[in-house]
Amino acid sequence: MTAPGFRSVSYSQTVLTELMIPSYANFGGKIHGGILLSLMDKVAYACAAKHAGNYCVTVSVDGVNFLQPVEVGELVSLMASVNYVGNTSLTVGIKVISENVKSGFVKHTNTSYFTMVAKGDDDKPSQVPGLKLETREDARRFLEAIKRRELSRRYQTELANTKTILQVEDELHLLQDERCQIMF
Ligand SMILES: CC(C)(COP(=O)(O)OP(=O)(O)OC[C@H]1O[C@@H](n2cnc3c(N)ncnc32)[C@H](O)[C@@H]1OP(=O)(O)O)[C@@H](O)C(=O)NCCC(=O)NCCS
Repeated sequence: MTAPGFRSVSYSQTVLTELMIPSYANFGGKIHGGILLSLMDKVAYACAAKHAGNYCVTVSVDGVNFLQPVEVGELVSLMASVNYVGNTSLTVGIKVISENVKSGFVKHTNTSYFTMVAKGDDDKPSQVPGLKLETREDARRFLEAIKRRELSRRYQTELANTKTILQVEDELHLLQDERCQIMF
């Protein structure tokens, strides 16, 4: 197998723009979060597959907080770029904005990070090309992604430990000020 070499961030930068139609909305007239998640997954795939030159799968999603509602009739644009590459994985940062076409008002709804893994024809994780950092911004995003990965690993370990040692009877007193009723 030949070494995959290096590719620039701009090589795979991808923008997806979609009109928010009534069938995407919930009963309150706002766009379902799941519609936005699906569009994010689509643009993350396009960006990751272009960088990898291979089929990719989504392995984890970080930082999905919908900060502002999106309305029917708005134009949503999702801007994706590779922030980080590991060996077989890569992290795609996605900035989502929504524009009211009449007023021209643009709001930033969220920025999220999708980690994707490239797969070869044998369906096994396959090495991705390295990333050429051509600007200071490219380097900042790469460094931030390393820190996010470290924090995420620490969080997963802490959470697993907490679950292992949790003794429900010993901790029931913590529920005293919570809005719940203990029925057992
Ligand atoms: C993603 C997948 C291939 C990883 O398989 P695996 O046996 O854990 O493979 P590896 O241990 O070799 O890990 C491969 C890469 O994934 C990364 N990875 C694995 N789990 C991860 C996680 N939870 N978060 C972030 N990265 C992860 C590893 O760090 C490694 O990255 P690197 O090669 O850049 O160092 C496997 O879990 C899978 O196929 N998952 C289903 C993906 C899918 O179908 N997604 C669609 C959504 S339903």
